[in-house]
Amino acid sequence: MTPISYKVSNVSPKATSDLISVYAVGLDGKETQLQGAASKLAGLKSLNLKALAISGAFEATSRLNVGNGVVGLIGIGEGITNHSKAREIGGAIGRAFKDAKSLTIDIPIASSEIALALLEGLAIAQYEFTKYKSSGSKTATLKSVHLVSSKSVSKTELDRLRILSEALNATRDLVNTPGNDLYPAKLAEIVKSQSKIPGVTVEIWDEKKLAKEKCIGILSVGQGSARGPRLVKITYSPSRAKSHLALVGKGITFDTGGISLKPPLGILGMKYDMAGAATIAQATLAIARLGLPIKVTAFMCIAENMPSGSATRPTDVITFRNGKTVEVINTDAEGRLVMADGLILASELKPDLIIDLATLTGGARVALGNRYTGLMGEDKAVAAIEKAASAAGELVWHMPLAEELLDLLKSDVADFVNSRLGNPAGSMLVGGLFLREFVGLASAKGKDRLNWAHLDFATAANNDLAPYGYTVKGATGSMVRTLVTVAEQMTAKQKK
Ligand code: BES
Ligand code: ZN
Ligand code: ZN
Repeated sequence: MTPISYKVSNVSPKATSDLISVYAVGLDGKETQLQGAASKLAGLKSLNLKALAISGAFEATSRLNVGNGVVGLIGIGEGITNHSKAREIGGAIGRAFKDAKSLTIDIPIASSEIALALLEGLAIAQYEFTKYKSSGSKTATLKSVHLVSSKSVSKTELDRLRILSEALNATRDLVNTPGNDLYPAKLAEIVKSQSKIPGVTVEIWDEKKLAKEKCIGILSVGQGSARGPRLVKITYSPSRAKSHLALVGKGITFDTGGISLKPPLGILGMKYDMAGAATIAQATLAIARLGLPIKVTAFMCIAENMPSGSATRPTDVITFRNGKTVEVINTDAEGRLVMADGLILASELKPDLIIDLATLTGGARVALGNRYTGLMGEDKAVAAIEKAASAAGELVWHMPLAEELLDLLKSDVADFVNSRLGNPAGSMLVGGLFLREFVGLASAKGKDRLNWAHLDFATAANNDLAPYGYTVKGATGSMVRTLVTVAEQMTAKQKK
C-alpha cells in the first residue's frame, strides 16, 4: 500500500472528481446543525438536514452530491473536545470515506493536538485484511488527506504517525493470519525479515536452543504440535541509550487448549492468541524506526498449543529455568507458562521496566468488557503505562493483584499449579499473580521486585463486533501506540 500523504493548511483545495470534502454536523440540544465551515457554504446552508435524515450524532456519517462535488458529513455530537474524541472522529471519517482518492476535511479543530490525533485516527482506520479474499483488491484507495486548519502539525509528527500506523498494520496482518499459515517458525521468520533496521538484532531460538536455555514453559506448551515452538529475542540497542525497557509477549499461534481441549465456540478467535508477541515486536521495531535513544529487549514466546500423543498431560510437573516448579493442571492455561520463560529471561537483564502483554484470560472480558485492557503490577510501572495509554487514547484499567487469590495457585506436589479447575474467581487477577512469581528481584540482597507490569488484552486485541471510531473488525493493533509512548516518555525522563 502506498503511504497516504497528509497536509495541514488553511487553504481549501479546489473540488475535483475524485475528491470528497468532509464537513461537520453537530448537535445543538437535539437539533442537528452544520458546524464550522459547513455553516458558511452556499451548497450546504440551504439543505434541510432533517428531511435528508442527516444525523449530527458522534461518528454518524452521510454523503451528498452538492454542486459538482461529493460532500461527506461527519457527526461530531457536542464537539471534538479532546484528543481521544478527535482520534475516534478521524477513524469514523477514515472508515466512511476510504474509497475516495483524496479527502479534504474542513471541520472545527481547536488545537494542534486535536489536528494530529484526528489524522492519527484516520490513518489507523485505513486497514483492511483482504489477503484471503479471492476477489482480491482493497476498497481503501485513499492517497491524500488535506486537513483545512490554521493549527500546525510538524513533519516529525507526521513521520511518527506514518511509522505508528505501519506498525499497527504489520501487527494486524500477523494477528489476522490464520493458524494454518502462521505457525511458530513462520512468525519468527516474518519478524526477522522485518527487522533490518539500524541498531536492531534478532535471535531465533529453536527447540534445541530452548532446551539448552531451560525454557521449559515454551517447550512444554509446544510439544504437542508438529510445528515446534520458538523464542524470538529482538534487541534494539542505540549507542545513546540510558534506560532499558524489556517487553514480553504471548505468541500462541493457535490455542486449541491442548489436552484440556476448548469447546467449538471457545476455540474460535484463538488464532489471535499471538497478538501479544506480534504487538511487542512491532512496537520495538517502531521504537527503532523512530530512533528513540532507549534500549529495548523484546521476547516473543511462541508455540502452538495442540493436543496429541506428545502433548503435555494435565498434572505433569515442569521445572522452570529459575528453579520453580509448576503442576500443569489445565493445559489451556498455557499463556502463563510461555510468558514465565519470557519474564525470567527479561528479569535476568535487570531492565528499568518490564512490560508483558498477553491475551491471557477470558476473565478479562468478564471483568472489563470488550474494549479495556487489564493492567496489573508494581505501582511505578502501572503509573507509567496509565500515563502513556492516556496520551495514546487507549483504554487500560488498573486491576489489583489480590493477594488472597494466591492460595488458588497452591499445588500439593509442586510449587504452584498453573490454574485451579472449577474456581473462576478473579481469573484475570490470578493470571497476573502467577506471572508475578516469575519476575525477578531488583537486587540479590533486597526483597524488591523489578519494576514490572502485566497487560491482559484478551478481548481488546480483537474486535469481533461492529467497527467503531478508528477500530476496525478483527485484529485491532491495540497497545502498539501505548508501548511506543511508554518508550518515548522514558526517553523524555532520561533527558532531564
Ligand atoms: N487464550 C486464552 C484466553 C482467551 C480467551 C483469549 C478468550 C481471548 C479470548 C487462554 O489461553 C485461556 O484459555 N485461558 C483460560 C485460563 C483459565 C484456564 C485459567 C481461560 O480464560 O479460560
Ligand atoms: Zn488457553
Ligand atoms: Zn491462550
